[in-house]
Amino acid sequence: MQTEQASYAYDVSRTGHADGAVPAMAVRSVTLDVVAGGTTALVGPTGSGKSTLASLVLRLIDPDSGVVRLDGVDLREVARGGVPEVGSLVAQQTFLFDDTVRGNITLGVEATDEEVWHALRVAQADGFVAALPSGLGTRVGERGTSLSGGQRQRVALARAVLRNPQLLVLDDATSAVDPSVEQAILAGLRESGHGLDDTPRTTVLVVAYRMATITLADDVIYLENGRVVDHGTHEQLLARCTGYASLVTAYAREAAERAAVLADEDRLDAQGVDS
Ligand SMILES: Nc1ncnc2c1ncn2[C@@H]1O[C@H](COP(=O)(O)OP(=O)(O)OP(=O)(O)O)[C@@H](O)[C@H]1O
Ligand SMILES: [Mg+2]
Repeated sequence: MQTEQASYAYDVSRTGHADGAVPAMAVRSVTLDVVAGGTTALVGPTGSGKSTLASLVLRLIDPDSGVVRLDGVDLREVARGGVPEVGSLVAQQTFLFDDTVRGNITLGVEATDEEVWHALRVAQADGFVAALPSGLGTRVGERGTSLSGGQRQRVALARAVLRNPQLLVLDDATSAVDPSVEQAILAGLRESGHGLDDTPRTTVLVVAYRMATITLADDVIYLENGRVVDHGTHEQLLARCTGYASLVTAYAREAAERAAVLADEDRLDAQGVDS
């Protein structure tokens, strides 16, 4: 996946997102080369353009200027709606239908149970699905309300994995999943690729908010204000990019604080103290 001088501004007059007529430049002249078959983390403060860049590489939007290519092909030459066959997006907000687990994963695509279970395994969802009263045949309820947020996210991830995408974009897709499970998902994605031996591995682009997730990536892209500030390994960026270093240090601090609060609650629970 490559972008060359790609820029995108939201039409604020249409969305009414901001006052005044100045278009919000969300992605500014971004030139990137994302290594095929690897895992690349997209890191940056809120509003830095991560989701916009994710939308560009999946052709949910077209750049105002510049080019986005997948396998050397300008995405604008791919029919709109053709990109879902090569690329899949899993976002934070997932949509499940009032259907079975199986139906929510296949969405009408032909698949054997074995293939569905493989996708569930990669998404770290096989355990809880196997424990449901009717396994794959269990209905998830309207909008999947019978599942937890983290379980819904993993079903949505299995849906994407089943499609064997060439490019898988995870935009905060595992925010409700335990950090250790998130790591297992990413490790599984890089090991098994997308499961079939004769096809190239899935390229994973993950918008990452946890230090542990970032360190699993082969490559990190650091964005600020719509621009790529630095691109390299986590260690390289940590050493040479102060904006990056302070952001990921803040993520690590937040994670440690959350873990301490949870441990405290566990301790109080163990003592039988009401919280
Ligand atoms: N639909 C929209 N209309 C107008 N401006 C938008 C729209 N979506 C995003 N923006 C603006 O574009 C810029 C980039 O937003 P984007 O959602 O890509 O950031 P992000 O890095 O994904 O942030 P976050 O970490 O909060 O998800 C921001 O300034 C944002 O306010
Ligand atoms: Mg975003």
